[in-house]
Amino acid sequence: MGKITIAIDGYSSTGKSTIAKRLASTLNYIYVDTGAMYRAVTFFALQEGIINDRGEVDEATLIDKLSEVHLKFVSNKETGRSDMFLNDENVEKEIRTMQVSGFVSKVAAIKEVREKLVKIQQEMGKDKGIVMDGRDIGTVVFPDAELKLFMTASPETRAARRYKELLEKGEEVTYAEVLKNVEERDRIDSTRTISPLTKAKDAIEFDNSDMGLEEQFERIHDFSQRVIERVN
Ligand code: DC
Repeated sequence: MGKITIAIDGYSSTGKSTIAKRLASTLNYIYVDTGAMYRAVTFFALQEGIINDRGEVDEATLIDKLSEVHLKFVSNKETGRSDMFLNDENVEKEIRTMQVSGFVSKVAAIKEVREKLVKIQQEMGKDKGIVMDGRDIGTVVFPDAELKLFMTASPETRAARRYKELLEKGEEVTYAEVLKNVEERDRIDSTRTISPLTKAKDAIEFDNSDMGLEEQFERIHDFSQRVIERVN
């Protein structure tokens, strides 16, 4: 059976990765969370002191040091998921903090960062059989993907989901802070000059504000089955 490429884009905390992960596992496809890659570069910048106390990113230094950034996903047998490794160190936990969330959109707006990561992503998907989630997968990384989804939900719904996740991880954060971060990232991600977050013309828009996980998964799985049948 010929495999396809599935691109899942959308706003932050729309549940893209939960759906993408499950879809990949059901179809026996590779799953790639591209947000984790932008987060790892941001964590690198923080570690290297390239982001100052005022929250400004020293772009020239980061671009200079990009060749020192080596990223890979390593499957974790305990969780059944892939962990993000930065220069051979597991940074899966470190990249999910509010600190990284606060800077990642700035780092992701840098052209050279995007060029480097897009190239790696295209290489990972060259044999198809991949579900990739992010912001520019259907528009830039795989414009020829056979199935493109664009996930949306209200900022309040998304912030509530993210808040719950962060509390479960033991982060001390308020709902108001999370909502502010979600709205700020939406704004930066959608208005940046290079590859802004936008729905590809041929993407299916999927608003899951009032939809449970099970229903979402069934509908999206159904879409993918139909596309797979059509191409085979
Ligand atoms: O999916 P996420 O929330 O973990 O992504 C973190 C940030 O990375 C997001 O605010 C924008 C950026 N990003 C991007 O610009 N392009 C992608 N393909 C994936 C993420």
